[in-house]
Parts: sequence; C-alpha cells; structure tokens
Amino acid sequence: MFKKIVFYTKLGYKLIKKDVINNEDYRKEYNKVSTTYTHWLNEMGQFTDKIINPQYILKDKKLKILDFACGTGYISKSLLEKNIDCEITAVDYSDKMLEKLKNLKDSRIKVVHCDGIEFLKNTEEKYDIIYFGWALSYFNYKELFKLFKKVLNDGGMVGIITNVQGTLSGIEDIFMKVMYKNHEEVIKPMDIRFNLPSGKKGLTKWFNQYGFEKVEVEDGQVLVTFDKPEQLLKWLNKTGAAAGTACIFKDYDLIKDHLVEEIRKAKYKNGKYEINHRFAYGIFKLR
Ligand SMILES: C[S@@+](CC[C@H](N)C(=O)[O-])C[C@H]1O[C@@H](n2cnc3c(N)ncnc32)[C@H](O)[C@@H]1O
Repeated sequence: MFKKIVFYTKLGYKLIKKDVINNEDYRKEYNKVSTTYTHWLNEMGQFTDKIINPQYILKDKKLKILDFACGTGYISKSLLEKNIDCEITAVDYSDKMLEKLKNLKDSRIKVVHCDGIEFLKNTEEKYDIIYFGWALSYFNYKELFKLFKKVLNDGGMVGIITNVQGTLSGIEDIFMKVMYKNHEEVIKPMDIRFNLPSGKKGLTKWFNQYGFEKVEVEDGQVLVTFDKPEQLLKWLNKTGAAAGTACIFKDYDLIKDHLVEEIRKAKYKNGKYEINHRFAYGIFKLR
C-alpha cells in the first residue's frame, strides 16, 4: 500500500510539474515510426478519406490548403490526386515523416519542416481549408483552435479526424501496471489523455468554443485482432498508435516482455487479442 502511495504521488508530482512526454519525445518517436507508418494508413486511411470529401471543396477558385501535422502526406497526396485547383502547404516537425512527402515533385505543394504551433504563430498566410489528421492529441486544443482561426479566411473550414477518449481501451491500465511494477525504470509519464475529446459531441463542443460550427461530424470505431500479444504490441509501436510510450522508460527493450505479459492477461477475447481504435471525424466551418 505504501509503495502504491509513493508511486502515485511521484507520478502526480511529475504531471503537475509537466515533467511528461514532450514535443521532442514525440518528434523522435515519429522519426522512428516513419518507416512503418504505412501499417496505420493501410488500416485507417479509409477513414481519413471521409474528411477529404470533394463535396465541401469549392471548385470555382484556387484553394489555399494547410495540411497540418501532415506526416508522410497521406492527405496532401489524396488532394493532389483529386486534381483540385489548389496550393497546399504541408507542415510537420518530424523530418523523417516528411522525407516520404519530399520525394513528391509537384509544384502545387510546399513542404515545411517546423513545429506546428510555431508555424501558425509566425505565418502571415491565410488558408481556405485546414486538414488535420490524427494529431489532435499532441496539441492543446485551446491554443490550437485559436491559431486555426487566425490563419483561416472568413468562412474557412477545418477537416479533422482524431482519436477520442476510450480508444486503445485498456492500454493505459496496462502501461500503468507495468510502470508500477518497474517504477525504478520510469522516467516520466504521458498526459495525452487530457487532449482527447469525448467523441463527436466533445469535438463539436471544442470547435464551437472557438467560433466554428459543425458541417458534419461522425463517430467511428475499428477493432484490430491478433493471434499473439506480441503482435498487438508491435502494432502499437509500428503504427504510431502508442507514440511516446517508449520514452516513459529508461530502456524500453527491458520493459517489452512485461507489456506483452499484461496484454496477454488483459486483451484476450474469443481466442484473439483485440485492440480498438475509437475516433471522430468531421468538417467544421468558421462562423
Ligand atoms: C499520426 S501522424 C498523422 C499524420 C497525417 N496527418 C496522417 O493523417 O497520416 C501524427 C503527426 O503529427 C506530427 N506532429 C505531432 N506534434 C507535432 C507538432 N507539435 N508540430 C508538427 N507536427 C507534429 C507528427 O510528427 C506526426 O507526423
């Protein structure tokens, strides 16, 4: 009991002091994930497609589009393929993720290697649409949505797809257990959960607070199953779904077996090991 109190007090203290997984940790993790990120796109890209819906894209003028936290450029590439008259700025802070986009020789796209918040603060450009795929959890939405407003033209839109609370169900508990049992290996915790909306209602509320109205918003969920717990852990690592978690520990390789053991106990269902991805996606327009 005493050990538990000490553990949680230490963790709480780190959270208050903001000694948590930070921007630089996520950047390094995405550099590693860049070579295997296609696993995520193969499974989840079909849902990203729902926000790249030409129905919302005016075709009577050249559009200025910002692909924010663009990663390997899934959204930008899809837009270019649709032959829309546009000029895209694609921003991300992971140089390795961007490498996959830089090979693209297309004069309609400009690739910017920069922290997203710094970019929004410093740019003098205005955009008609911001696309924002699978990265909300890395930002404070209050700071971000104010900046989105600043860089959007009147009536501008945000197309977003994001994880929501309840995604990767049980994984946080698994990490907490392993952190507790290996407390001497823990450097710092993650606070990503606080940046996730509670589904489409929560997402709409967040946008409404900053002067955006809903055009369309939906909830979604995908279940991915594996034969072995090791495969589930590998999926979390190679897709970026658990980006940042490796930095919790001094030596992640020492911890992997403990994580596999906890996954084996907690995630077994009907002969398989199952993980859920809960998300919301939609289009929001500046009032
Ligand atoms: C899950 S990937 C999404 C990539 C892309 N939007 C997509 O839909 O495939 C998350 C991306 O957010 C980027 N990212 C996270 N925090 C960022 C920040 N502060 N500034 C710029 N990019 C950031 C990461 O480098 C990573 O490429």
